[in-house]
Amino acid sequence: MSNLTVKNVSKIYPGHSANDEPVLALDRVSFHVEDHEFCSVLGHSGCGKTTLLMMMAGFEDASEGQIMVDGKPIGKPTWQRSIVFQDYALFPWMTVQENISFGLEMKKIPLADRKEVIQKNIQLVGLSGFENRYPHQLSGGMKQRVSIARALAVDPKVLLMDEPFAALDAQNRALMQEEMGRILASSDITQRKTMIMVTHSIDEAVILSDRIVVLTRRPGRVKANVIVNLPRPRVEESPEFIALKRQIRDLIHDEFEIEA
Ligand SMILES: Nc1ncnc2c1ncn2[C@@H]1O[C@H](COP(=O)(O)OP(=O)(O)OP(=O)(O)O)[C@@H](O)[C@H]1O
Ligand SMILES: [Mg+2]
Repeated sequence: MSNLTVKNVSKIYPGHSANDEPVLALDRVSFHVEDHEFCSVLGHSGCGKTTLLMMMAGFEDASEGQIMVDGKPIGKPTWQRSIVFQDYALFPWMTVQENISFGLEMKKIPLADRKEVIQKNIQLVGLSGFENRYPHQLSGGMKQRVSIARALAVDPKVLLMDEPFAALDAQNRALMQEEMGRILASSDITQRKTMIMVTHSIDEAVILSDRIVVLTRRPGRVKANVIVNLPRPRVEESPEFIALKRQIRDLIHDEFEIEA
């Protein structure tokens, strides 16, 4: 089980040509995610959410500052920090179970053990019976379930998700949020992964998170770090839920006015 620390992290993208100004995408971002916590990073489009997640995964370097897992600076990308991409990124020529198996093969898990892990994770995301389907035979919501199952199957220390439900229509999005809420509510807390999800949906963040880090508009800075203590599964009609949503909405709305 693992915790993750973002310490004074900035990211400057160099300009593409001599006339192009460098872009300061993130500015001295710091926060800490505890063991077993579900943390959402919430902010407007272009505030540096994907950049931050790519740095956590190890695909991008920080220009300044450090990202640590269990107090140790992270290195290259590894299955220990697995990532769910916005566009699923499944292999189209592989079935559901082959897609999930891929990471396990990379990890050199023996075939007999692989089968059990695949089955457990397929069941967890509610896809039993679809093991032999190909991605093109699945709906967007189902594809996203496969990519979540694939990321969880390798038993990462930290699960990173980039707007995992953004490509879905409103109905499927609500279903997936519910499903994720169910997974979080039912699993033994000590078994739960440390998860970080970037999103621009306030609802999604409040339904799923133990902690919500609100970023400012670009360059992204930490605007607020809010602990969510509501019991799970979350009751969206409860006064506490509505009050928290309003609090977060005000924080985000402030940002809008500063920009205007
Ligand atoms: N590879 C890159 N090279 C140069 N600039 C980049 C690169 N990637 C991102 N940027 C810039 O950095 C800023 C932050 O981008 P990023 O994709 O991290 O934002 P985001 O919060 O994920 O946005 P969205 O909600 O639209 O996905 C933007 O201004 C973007 O143009
Ligand atoms: Mg993004």
